[in-house]
Amino acid sequence: MAKDQEIDPSTGPNHVAVIMDGNGRWAQARGKPRLFGHHAGAKRVREIVEACPPNGVKYLTIFAFSTENWKRTQTEVAGLMSLFRRYIEKEAKALLKNGVRVRFIGDRMKLDDKLVSLMDELELLTSTNDEIHLTIAINYGGRDEVARATKRLAHEVAAGRLDPKDVDAETLAKFLDTYVLPDPDLVIRTSGEARISNFLLWQSAYSEYEFVDTLWPDFTAEEFGKLVGKFGARDRRFGAVKA
Ligand code: FPP
Repeated sequence: MAKDQEIDPSTGPNHVAVIMDGNGRWAQARGKPRLFGHHAGAKRVREIVEACPPNGVKYLTIFAFSTENWKRTQTEVAGLMSLFRRYIEKEAKALLKNGVRVRFIGDRMKLDDKLVSLMDELELLTSTNDEIHLTIAINYGGRDEVARATKRLAHEVAAGRLDPKDVDAETLAKFLDTYVLPDPDLVIRTSGEARISNFLLWQSAYSEYEFVDTLWPDFTAEEFGKLVGKFGARDRRFGAVKA
């Protein structure tokens, strides 16, 4: 059966988020430096982005660098930053042509100016696209995001523009990096680790999770399609009881 016949868009996930884990182990298994694994991982990103439309996925959010990843060696951090710059420079044309709207989430303050300007340019360049919404998390941490949002909200209160009585979950969500995005329906983590590592903490309150053993550089469009297809069989109740 063809992919698009298997997937029922009314029951499939609209927003899939991915923790792309296992690049280091993939490289180590080949006797190569960790950055070799990250380069192989970057190649997978294009394949999974392209696999979204045939699988009925409109939003894809990927975890590229966490607020904790700065603790890695200077060589690995610098290599990853240069990989992100190169990815943007190399992929911009194809992303634009394929109708991909790119957004970045995370704290940009700690990122170098060249990378930030490439990120800004790509967001602007693709801002009228609507086929796929790709969000890339760089220097992102769920707790850090909530703390930054709270700080902005507190400024609004201090300036008298927001009454504390009116603050609820919906108000806080408007200050998050993801304020324009729907919550993820499905979160996939590769490499056999079953934890969420500070990814989309607020947004994934009702997400379904899939933890797969495949290392990210081996994760294919076919496996992505299978996980998306499996999602339709789940019974999501969002805390309620079905009549
Ligand atoms: C986790 O694997 C992966 C990362 C910290 C980096 C993710 C980056 C990419 C997939 C590459 C490029 C992304 C873009 C958007 C171009 P790990 O290094 O923790 O692997 P390990 O657990 O096996 O050590």
